[in-house]
Amino acid sequence: MAATGTPSAASRYPAGGLAFPHRDLLGIGRLERHEILYLLDEAEQWVELNRRSAKRVDALTGLTIINAFFENSTRTLLSFEIAGKRLGADVVNMHAATSSVKKGETLIDTAITLNAMRADAIVIRHASSGAVALIADKVDCPVLNAGDGSHEHPTQALLDALTLRHALRARGQAGDDFTGQTIVICGDILHSRVARSNILCLTALGANVRVCAPPALLPAAVEAMGATPFHSFDTALAGADVVMMLRLQTERMAGQFIPSPREYHHLYGLTLKRLKLAEPDALVMHPGPMNRGVEIDSDVADLLDRSIITRQVEMGVAMRMACLDVLTRRQRGVEGWNDLPTSGKWP
Ligand code: CP
Repeated sequence: MAATGTPSAASRYPAGGLAFPHRDLLGIGRLERHEILYLLDEAEQWVELNRRSAKRVDALTGLTIINAFFENSTRTLLSFEIAGKRLGADVVNMHAATSSVKKGETLIDTAITLNAMRADAIVIRHASSGAVALIADKVDCPVLNAGDGSHEHPTQALLDALTLRHALRARGQAGDDFTGQTIVICGDILHSRVARSNILCLTALGANVRVCAPPALLPAAVEAMGATPFHSFDTALAGADVVMMLRLQTERMAGQFIPSPREYHHLYGLTLKRLKLAEPDALVMHPGPMNRGVEIDSDVADLLDRSIITRQVEMGVAMRMACLDVLTRRQRGVEGWNDLPTSGKWP
């Protein structure tokens, strides 16, 4: 295992600078390709640790991490909580439903309150795009975006990339990145922060990314992000090495975007029959939560050797450990990293 806090010396990282010179993790769109690779490489040590019976280290002992979730979550909240605890930090969860947000407190006042408690890192999920960046501007510690509206979900994209790299490497099909891989992302692209972060991450890592949705759920901006749009799922699947399914984000829909879930499943649901249109060994991914029988059938979601959905959950803990470790290095005085400025204005 690599020593905690020691920047990897792989030649692909730029010489003469820190491999990850950011205070916060707000979105994949703010990262360079080598910074994404750096976080993926850092996560490997935690994948190994998490598979042992003794899973705890003291890298973050004495630090306080606040998970402030203003929107529901199972995977992301638990994963960040487990990640912080396995690194030895004190982890506190703030749920909006039981907080003073319910009494009319503004987001900025909540941020100032969390800051006054001298948290060492704050993990935030919020229903509004841009809300996490707003909080990051008001606090003194690193802020990690756990999903903001339909904007970004950077740790989801990073854990997806880590999962995929592991699965492809196990088959001898991947090196550091995804050059030569065709990845189809199908579902409610318009409202999905997971889609946006994944398009940015996977294209940065060399994949040929196709996005597929009904016209009303496919924004034109995907082409500017380097993805190829499709309305026919059957056409998009031809030659696909990986199929990533997304649920309909009904909580973010204002109005009717599909005729019915049944009709949607008919055209865009991943069935065993439809999966046969992809490459014979194509992998299946889903960030969760899944709506079985709508965007994905149970016999596909649970397909042995092809579905890596539960592996995504496993990798989520390791990826979030890497992010918490890297982003708290300055506070911990890790050699080299404590030269970074203390103000919140750096990248
Ligand atoms: N993938 C994901 O963000 O799941 P949760 O909403 O359960 O955190």
